[in-house]
Amino acid sequence: MMKASRLIGLIRPYIPRFILAILLMAVVGACEALFALLIKPVFDRVLDVHQSIAPILLFKLPFHGPAIYLQDFIPPGIHSPWAMVAFAIVAVTFIKGVSVYFATYSVNYIGQSVVRDLRNMLYTKIIAQSMSFFSQNPTGRLMSTVTNDIERIQDAVSHVTANFLKQSFTLLGLLVVIFYLDWHLALASLILVPFVVFPSANIGRYIRASSRKSQDKMAEIANILQETFSGIRVVKAFGMESFEARKFMAATRRLLKVNLRWVRAHALTSPLMELFGAIMIAGFLLYARNEIVHHAHTMGGFVAFLFALIKMYEPIKRLTSVNNAFQLAVGASERVFDLLDVNAELKEKPNAVALPPFHQEIIFDHVDFSYDDAPILQGVNLRIRKGEVVAIVGSSGAGKTTLANLIPRFFDVTRGRILFDGCDLRDATLSSLRAQIGIVTQETVLFNDTVFNNIAYGQQSVSPESVEEAARAALAHEFITELPEGYQTVIGERGQRLSGGQRQRIAIARALLKNSPILILDEATSSLDTESEALVQKALMNLMVGRTVLVIAHRLSTVRRADRIVVLDRGSISEIGTHEDLVTRGGIYQRLHDLQFVDVEP
Ligand SMILES: Nc1ncnc2c1ncn2[C@@H]1O[C@H](COP(=O)(O)OP(=O)(O)O)[C@@H](O)[C@H]1O
Ligand SMILES: [Mg+2]
Repeated sequence: MMKASRLIGLIRPYIPRFILAILLMAVVGACEALFALLIKPVFDRVLDVHQSIAPILLFKLPFHGPAIYLQDFIPPGIHSPWAMVAFAIVAVTFIKGVSVYFATYSVNYIGQSVVRDLRNMLYTKIIAQSMSFFSQNPTGRLMSTVTNDIERIQDAVSHVTANFLKQSFTLLGLLVVIFYLDWHLALASLILVPFVVFPSANIGRYIRASSRKSQDKMAEIANILQETFSGIRVVKAFGMESFEARKFMAATRRLLKVNLRWVRAHALTSPLMELFGAIMIAGFLLYARNEIVHHAHTMGGFVAFLFALIKMYEPIKRLTSVNNAFQLAVGASERVFDLLDVNAELKEKPNAVALPPFHQEIIFDHVDFSYDDAPILQGVNLRIRKGEVVAIVGSSGAGKTTLANLIPRFFDVTRGRILFDGCDLRDATLSSLRAQIGIVTQETVLFNDTVFNNIAYGQQSVSPESVEEAARAALAHEFITELPEGYQTVIGERGQRLSGGQRQRIAIARALLKNSPILILDEATSSLDTESEALVQKALMNLMVGRTVLVIAHRLSTVRRADRIVVLDRGSISEIGTHEDLVTRGGIYQRLHDLQFVDVEP
């Protein structure tokens, strides 16, 4: 209920338009009623051989109210009853059409706008979250919420609301008509309504349940495909082809079964409904025959009644499914609102200070860190002085990236503290801290934008000269000028394809332009081939000049030039020293050196 009212609250800015939509839909309902009323004169006057030019009564207001005649609405040039009725039928349909059009547009305008508002709110919220938020919420799920779940909400606010309004007013109009024409008969007919609604609602529920099951089975199949195709080498190596094929066939058999069940239920609906309708009409005919014979009613009156009654089926059917679509939207909105309600765990203190330019040292003081419960870093003590190049080595999973991520405060330490020139990171503003740190990682992030904008990313106003200067220092200028549109070439899936080394040098140019005093290089060259690595290595050397650098590397050429080498082993520092110190110490570094670095001697 909370979610539902919150969902409705989103419409608040659009209330005037919403009222307009309601009024227009009321006009639609009135037109439906008028159309049914016009059936009466069609049979009694237009198709009657004894034509008379007496006024055609449309509606007599109750309690001795005035009668409303069709003549009152017809242009004076039209005199014969058939021309009047013909004109009225077209006019009513025209007015209904115009109203439906604008009402549908208004309601969908609201729906689309609400969706835009929600998306914007959600995106702004998500992008402000800490890194640990992103490690807890997989990218796929976030994307699905911002796209699919919101799409479902849009369905509720536009499609469902439009339908609900239109069908309610139509139903109301038709109800007025049947009660006006014969309230005894109207009451008798309404008693039959539950007999139509309940079976159709039940079948509807059954159909939805089986279509959901069908989706589950489909997902199962997709899962098998994904598993076996991506793990095809394992499947083949273990000779499991026929086992997997049998598993697949069992899954498709289950899907077939569920789908056929759906088809059976679906195919049953309309014959069943038609049968109910036929029974109703039959009973009605028996009654009507009697009444007409005794002149209690005209033929036109009965046909109009029957017409209105049959017309009521559609709104009744649709209204029963509206709630369902609304519930779906409420379910989807739950995930959206949950995300909107997430509080940033990594907060700036209200009295956070802006860090002055880096001038002394960064200190890890007895730092422990864990993502969830499992400890990743334990008792890390480390001092990085201004101007130093500190290398971190260790096996994969030792915690090197994690350690580096603590410096820009992507995560908060679990215990201990990190000091930036003596100031605890948690006491500083995030922007003043991150402005002083440049990062180049293994997976280069380039945006689908021009080369120029990718290099200038995050900078307010940059001159073309400074971008070019950064690109030259990053050894990227040459290949950039060879691109079809030089610096204005758009990088992206459809744009120019760049090699890993080229992308990396653009990332280095970006870091050079940012010109931050502290630099984190996280395996920046490890995914490159030897040739492009040499270029990137040179570019990195240009980048490192005059900066404080934390470099995570797996190649000796980078590591041995470091002022100090930190060996990380399962989250703890096991050795610190220069290359010369460590290479003969008989510890992990020496072993790594002998095993891993041996082939890349400079
Ligand atoms: N976002 C995360 N959530 C939970 N565990 C993580 C996350 N990132 C890394 N880890 C775990 O932390 C450990 C250290 O990872 P990492 O710092 O990336 O190691 P390295 O960079 O030395 O290879 C690994 O066991 C890894 O599985
Ligand atoms: Mg790593």
